[in-house]
Amino acid sequence: MTAKITWDSSFETGISEVDAQHLRLVEIINSLVDAIGHADKNTLKGIVEQLKEYAQYHFRTEEKIMAESGYAGLAEHRDEHAMFVDQILLFDLDVILASEGLAWDMLHFLRGWLTNHILVVDKRFAVQLQA
Ligand code: FEO
Repeated sequence: MTAKITWDSSFETGISEVDAQHLRLVEIINSLVDAIGHADKNTLKGIVEQLKEYAQYHFRTEEKIMAESGYAGLAEHRDEHAMFVDQILLFDLDVILASEGLAWDMLHFLRGWLTNHILVVDKRFAVQLQA
């Protein structure tokens, strides 16, 4: 079984800019799957850094759309975004990426958070935006 995320229509929110950015986030996580156990620590660190930066860029985009549409759940949603970024910042990458097992644990957290967030939390917003 692959640890990669398989993108399909269930991930689509119907907001094209958001969907394109989600696809990019999925691609970055999938590149981490390819790299764990193969690439050196600095390469892995670079991918996690890329994920953090792109996630922050994406979260800003999404929060702007929410603010412009007057979405009532903005504060709660923003908190979820902040928690994800904070968690990445808390990872001790020197320790985690020195162990393949810990690297997979981190990957499973990142993958689980992102898929749940898109499928449940982002979609809740998308449904309201399009109502
Ligand atoms: Fe697509 Fe709420 O992040």
